[in-house]
Amino acid sequence: MATTKQTTFSSNLGVIMAAVGSAVGLGNIWRFPYTCGKYGGGAFLIVYLCFVFLLGATLMMSEFVIGRRTQHTPVKAFQSLHPKRAWGAVGLLGLITSFFILSQYLVLSGWTTNYVWDAITGTLASLGTDAGNISNYFAAFSTSGSRPVITLIVFSIICLVIILCGVQKGIENVSKVLMPFLVLLVLVLCVRSLTLPGAGKGLEYLFSPDFSKLTGEGVLAALGQALFSLSVGMGVMIVYGSYMPLNDNIFKTAMWITACDTLIAVLAGVAIFPAVFSCGFDPAGGPGLVFCVLPNVFNTMGGAGVIFSTLFFLLLVVAAMTSAISLLEALTAALHEHTSMGRTFSAVLFFLLSTALGVLFAMSVGPLSHITVGHAHLTLFDFVDRLNSIYLPPICSLLTIIFFGWFMTEKDVKDELSNHGTVKIGYYRLFRLLSRYVAPLALLLVLITGIF
Ligand code: TRP
Repeated sequence: MATTKQTTFSSNLGVIMAAVGSAVGLGNIWRFPYTCGKYGGGAFLIVYLCFVFLLGATLMMSEFVIGRRTQHTPVKAFQSLHPKRAWGAVGLLGLITSFFILSQYLVLSGWTTNYVWDAITGTLASLGTDAGNISNYFAAFSTSGSRPVITLIVFSIICLVIILCGVQKGIENVSKVLMPFLVLLVLVLCVRSLTLPGAGKGLEYLFSPDFSKLTGEGVLAALGQALFSLSVGMGVMIVYGSYMPLNDNIFKTAMWITACDTLIAVLAGVAIFPAVFSCGFDPAGGPGLVFCVLPNVFNTMGGAGVIFSTLFFLLLVVAAMTSAISLLEALTAALHEHTSMGRTFSAVLFFLLSTALGVLFAMSVGPLSHITVGHAHLTLFDFVDRLNSIYLPPICSLLTIIFFGWFMTEKDVKDELSNHGTVKIGYYRLFRLLSRYVAPLALLLVLITGIF
């Protein structure tokens, strides 16, 4: 079924780096460590490992199979595998989700870019160790409506330039440099964090298993995080799958990506929590952790704090950038395939649209906070955050895995996984069980509990 390839990554390493770049994002660094600590440390980690390797990797493999088999972007990929063209809607929903996630990601990335600048110029250091001062600074900055917008635009221009350089020269080469750099940054921060006095308490928070904290909510959080962290369910991995060299082993590649993503999430926890505890702070999650607690932690380190805060925010920008690139690439490739528009035009168009929406979301935190949605009076930013975390990704993942498990022919799946019979697929029966029954049921559960 594969037609002649037009775009591919040049090697297996290129695929792994680009996909790890997509997977490793803000979710690994500011969501995983906190969630892990909150729901019982080591106990949560065990459950998370099961979910991410069994279900997350299953979804990733299914997207790779769909993408490489068809050599198409999501909508056409679904349509070409099944006579009912309505299945294309699943691909479309994935792309819409990607668009919303990208716009929201740009806001957070803009904030982070601003903090890199503030760290380098010593602005953060000048705030001292007064928690109130630091929080006020963040509140004033994020609601100001000017700097968040400028930094957002700077960040998205960089992403656009990388996309315009092409799949191999842009995305692949940048990922091959940035991912090792990211690992280096996180390792340096781990060493610093672990050598602080009292670091053990942070490790205890992160790792010591406390099964009493592992509630049903914790188990679902582990599943949700496993799927979010691997960037599955929105067609991005279908697009990357279509760029995968034909002789790559899909199973091995997915396992490598899953392992790297998980390792970096754990290392991020080791870089953050020992330092937080050592400086006598309470653990927090989300923006509060990154923009309020951590600057304070760095400021207690004296002069070296400037270096470590710069490294940390740089780490976050790198992680966010490779994720944003994958989202913009998926949208660009899809538009390019469906219309006669060139790649450059498609990329610029989605850059403009997602930046405009991102600016609106950024402003909704400040000057436009009076615009609210629904009876809960959510700001636009909070509304899209809900949409992106609770509703859209599980719906898209569920539909994708149902299609894959029940509507794709077994011959297509086996042929693609085994590279036309040239590699062994001893895992196939387990994989089939997971993709037909376990994953759809688990996703349904996440969706229902998320909504109610
Ligand atoms: N995996 C990313 C993270 O951990 C977030 C994400 C979810 C994402 N879906 C995506 C990134 C799709 C790129 C593409 O932060």
